[in-house]
Amino acid sequence: MCGIIGYTGKKEAGAIMLDALELLEYRGYDSAGIALSAEAGGEPKLLKRAGRVKDLRTLCAENDTSGTCGIGHTRWATHGGVCDENAHPHRFGKVTIIHNGIIENYRELTEKYGLEDKLCSQTDSEVVAAVLSRFYEGDPYAAIRKTVLKLKGTFALAILFDDIPGKIFAVRNVSPIVAASTGDGAILSSDVAAIVPFTNQYFVVPEFHVVCLSKDRIELFDLSGDKACIDWLTVDWDVSRSDKGGYPFYMEKEIMEQPQVIGDTIMPRIKEGKPDFSAEGIPDNILSDCKRICVIACGTAMHAGLVGKSLIQAMIGIHVDVVMASEFMYNDPVVDKETLVIAISQSGETIDTLEALKFARKCGSPTISIVNVKGASIARASEYVIYTCAGPEIAVASTKAYTTQLAVLYLLTARMAMARGLWTKEKLTAYMKELMRVPKVIEEVLLRKDEIHHIADTMLNARDVFMIGRGLDYSILLEGSLKLKEVSYIHSEAYASGELKHGTIALITEETPVIAVVTQDKLKSKELSNIKEVQSRGAKVILLIKGEEQIEQEKIWYRIFRLPVMADEFMVMPASVVLQLIAYYVSADKGLDVDKPRNLAKVVTVE
Ligand code: AGP
Repeated sequence: MCGIIGYTGKKEAGAIMLDALELLEYRGYDSAGIALSAEAGGEPKLLKRAGRVKDLRTLCAENDTSGTCGIGHTRWATHGGVCDENAHPHRFGKVTIIHNGIIENYRELTEKYGLEDKLCSQTDSEVVAAVLSRFYEGDPYAAIRKTVLKLKGTFALAILFDDIPGKIFAVRNVSPIVAASTGDGAILSSDVAAIVPFTNQYFVVPEFHVVCLSKDRIELFDLSGDKACIDWLTVDWDVSRSDKGGYPFYMEKEIMEQPQVIGDTIMPRIKEGKPDFSAEGIPDNILSDCKRICVIACGTAMHAGLVGKSLIQAMIGIHVDVVMASEFMYNDPVVDKETLVIAISQSGETIDTLEALKFARKCGSPTISIVNVKGASIARASEYVIYTCAGPEIAVASTKAYTTQLAVLYLLTARMAMARGLWTKEKLTAYMKELMRVPKVIEEVLLRKDEIHHIADTMLNARDVFMIGRGLDYSILLEGSLKLKEVSYIHSEAYASGELKHGTIALITEETPVIAVVTQDKLKSKELSNIKEVQSRGAKVILLIKGEEQIEQEKIWYRIFRLPVMADEFMVMPASVVLQLIAYYVSADKGLDVDKPRNLAKVVTVE
């Protein structure tokens, strides 16, 4: 959470930082600010305010923003409410900082260093500026080292010292910082998204290392002051993938990209018609020897894990647990050498998933992560990594990351079956053929977006929406429901249809739209009976059903969407896309800020 940017070079830093902050705004959008280092040394120019980056832009337009070195921040509030004083950068003595993360011992530090009446904000971050200032006696590295050793919690800090103009220092623990040379200077950021407009070469600043950006070089040191080697990485998407491409919102663009990015994710991993993870170096024994699997993830990524669970249990016959990463550590997790732990994360930075993964590794579990952002912390903390090829996902609501995670889980299931010698050649061939059809089938759904838009229109004034299904249908409805509430603010719940009558059916009235998904042959008759139960209570049922399935009395349905036909285990793909589009259209038609729903942030780096 919180986006950070720093630039020093030949160009105007103000303009570069404002553009970058717009790209980083998905990390948090409560307030924003920049500090411009004074060319001849002295106090930097500080401009910050509560609100969006566009409000900061207005403030900058009213002020002098000349200068070629600066740091900038977009905030997702944790400690201290949303107001100008709590916006970053924070300044104390000769030190100006921006911070992403949480300093857990900020109260003790405030007390220890007698800062109670010296601070201007309610943030934990300003305390770091004060401690740094206390230790700063002309040697930035010594001050940073001493400060960092006093901090408990997570942090990515970018720092300006008044008497070292033109240089930016940065250090981190857990929260990410990447850095790169821009040709005319140097840049650092919380995300590669802000770096891609300048270069495709970057590196991840290692934890507890200090990076120093000057106009003509980048230097990296460990905490004892020894020079460290830089491990350069290449971004494999270009800047055009980070714009809206003519769509009104990133969410729509990202939904529309799914046929392409699912193809990009699966095709390089299919060799001679078989799933292949040799490029990732994943040995088959990891997949064949495990006795159980534990998936750890949050939100949408966890919902992808639930689909994976159904697939693997049904097709491989081994037990799979899907655990909310935020609960994992507090439920006395039982994972061991025989448990394959799969961490799923778009950003690769979700702190709960990262901590759970580190714990699993300590327990000796083999670990595979499914991550979208190259070089992200979860990818680096895991033994093996499979990158989804979704490209940058900017909308806070995850769409293409989810379906590419599913695509990887389909591949893994097939590889696991091969490694265990479970399927016949014919079964594997049929399964892989079906997987390769997914991009085409999703394209068919996207071509029918107007039909889906009409369905969404029926929900615009709903107070509650229920979604019901069984088995795999229930798993995808959990995701469909999260999507709807996240972007439209309509209360929505996904329910296993058989469970409704154990209490929740009391909430169904004539005003309640119910989305029912029926795609699994073996569950169809039971699902249809459960739907009747809500129809009898007056609910308006919107039915998503597989292809030309025979259903009685078409007119009892409020709306019907017939999904393109795939093998049952693949039906989640077209059905998910319909649910994504419903959520999108409801939000857009309500005039909401689809890409930046209230209170949320794209990357969740606080527990
Ligand atoms: C979904 O739309 C959300 N943005 C959220 O649930 C997200 O999937 C979750 O925070 C996990 O993020 P990650 O994939 O980056 O770990």
